[in-house]
Amino acid sequence: VQRVLTGIKPSGTPHLGNYAGAIRPAVAASRHSGVESFYFLADYHALISTADPLRVQRSTLEIAATWLAAGLDTERVWFYRQSDIPEIPELTWLLTCVAGKGLLNRAHAYKAAVDKNAADGLDADAGVSMGLFMYPVLMAADILMFKANSVPVGRDQIQHLEMARDIAGSFNHLYGEHFVLPEAAIDASVATLPGLDGRKMSKSYDNTIPLFAPPAELKKLIFSIVTDSKAPGEPKDADGSALFQLYQAFSSAEEARAMRTAFDDGIAWGEAKQALFEHIEGAVAPMRDKYQALIAEPAQIERQLREGAEKARALAAPFLAELRHAVGLRNLA
Ligand code: TYM
Repeated sequence: VQRVLTGIKPSGTPHLGNYAGAIRPAVAASRHSGVESFYFLADYHALISTADPLRVQRSTLEIAATWLAAGLDTERVWFYRQSDIPEIPELTWLLTCVAGKGLLNRAHAYKAAVDKNAADGLDADAGVSMGLFMYPVLMAADILMFKANSVPVGRDQIQHLEMARDIAGSFNHLYGEHFVLPEAAIDASVATLPGLDGRKMSKSYDNTIPLFAPPAELKKLIFSIVTDSKAPGEPKDADGSALFQLYQAFSSAEEARAMRTAFDDGIAWGEAKQALFEHIEGAVAPMRDKYQALIAEPAQIERQLREGAEKARALAAPFLAELRHAVGLRNLA
């Protein structure tokens, strides 16, 4: 069977990029027969982006409710919280012992921090925690623990997948073929969903559209998406337009083709924004109601996560025992 796995960091409110880049393709994949799906809240990873306990807690609830509102069937999939699986940090250590420091030095997030420090005239590692540095190893443990073949993610996660493969390869080389090498699965129509300012939609750029913003706020945000100053009637460049990319991510291929023609024919920006609002609202509205109901019952969500963790640990515990044995731990009798 094909194993599909992906996670989201609960460090903020879920946005359209998380939904189109990870949640929607993952929920769709989980419906195929012959697929086993593993979806989780990467709350240990969230500690690297925020030191606000209430934010992690709130975001965990919001992201869990989002998965469920998006139609995740918890009977069919493994749905859990990373920090409920103590085998994951344990595997992280086994992987740390085979992961090259040079490999981790090349991680985009770490390099960006070092480059920024250099530009600011600071010590290379100023403000960099070991958590940030080790981020890719913890993520490799998430993936390798459950022998995932396919990991649906946005383009920003490709390097992390390459590192997971690299680390798995090193372990297999030293101790035998224990790990499956995972592949990133990128949805070509949404590989990177742009935000309000045209850059990648991201909590760290403060340019996100919250997935469950009330309709009036959603509309206001969509009307604030940056465009060029071309007048109605002037042909517009679909490929260079954040508006068009968002439209494409929330419509059929046929609708996207029609919108491309409308861009060529000089659709007014206001009209294109209205069409985008209607498309997104149409996709989100039914989920929004479910989401509101779910979020009002945190105890229910907590129960589902605990059950999911039990199911996941039933696989993680014996696999970790195998790995400990392979490296020579706890083997005396
Ligand atoms: P995170 O929480 O930043 O984002 C969750 C998922 O949403 C995708 N995404 C986007 N996709 C398209 N366009 C965007 N603008 C956009 N913004 C975010 C991300 O690519 C991601 O797929 N390191 C991961 C969490 C993680 C994980 C894992 C993922 C931890 N362990 C194991 C897969 C497998 C992260 O920070 O995602």
